[in-house]
Amino acid sequence: MGQIITVASGKGGCAKTSLAMILSGTLASEGYQVAVIDADPNTCYFQWYKLYEGPAIDCSCEIRQEEIVDCAQAKALDFEVVLIDTAGFGNTTAAFAAGTADTVLIPVMPDRASAVEAMRSARQVQAFGKAGRREIPFRIVRSRWNPRGLVERAIVGDLMAAGLPLMEQYLSDLSDFGKLSLSGKVPLRGKLGTQARLLVAELVSCAALPPVPARRAA
Ligand SMILES: Nc1ncnc2c1ncn2[C@@H]1O[C@H](COP(=O)(O)OP(=O)(O)O)[C@@H](O)[C@H]1O
Ligand SMILES: [Mg+2]
Repeated sequence: MGQIITVASGKGGCAKTSLAMILSGTLASEGYQVAVIDADPNTCYFQWYKLYEGPAIDCSCEIRQEEIVDCAQAKALDFEVVLIDTAGFGNTTAAFAAGTADTVLIPVMPDRASAVEAMRSARQVQAFGKAGRREIPFRIVRSRWNPRGLVERAIVGDLMAAGLPLMEQYLSDLSDFGKLSLSGKVPLRGKLGTQARLLVAELVSCAALPPVPARRAA
């Protein structure tokens, strides 16, 4: 049974789809069998997927709240990792996608609204877990992040004070993200490539991902 990772936050534009793009491309390049479910009616991931160039990724779209759980669990029978890109917690499908996840990743960007929404999203994940009488592991992933920035440091203080689990690895503010959305090529080298690989390694170390497979696609 593969691991289901749902990317979610109530905040629009906080890097959910970008995270799904770089994680899926990096995981595929490391030899994982990866399926992505685009659960956002805007189908941003799916539109990008049509441009995607790299080792195979399976991609399907499912926005129906009554279907997303079956869809994710069926994919998890055939793939090592199932990533679900959501439209955020304003949307019931995202709630079901979080409910069936092994791990929820909540991206945050360096602005107050994004941090407040990350905290609210974390409480929602905890509530979905309680509803199903289990704990759903979740992690905050910082994107467009400069760890020395004043705003960033204040936000980290707030997130830590709220007891939220921050991933150590963050994604810097990089123009590569804009290029990625146009080219469909996930950089495996350079700063973004390195940060994405370190993010994967950290997800492996906290058991959100299975170990890197022996077979490697690239
Ligand atoms: N680390 C980053 N550096 C620079 N731009 C980023 C970064 N992360 C995301 N972006 C940009 O932010 C915008 C919103 O990201 P997106 O992934 O579409 O958010 P969401 O899916 O949460 O609505 C996109 O234009 C994306 O390229
Ligand atoms: Mg999106």
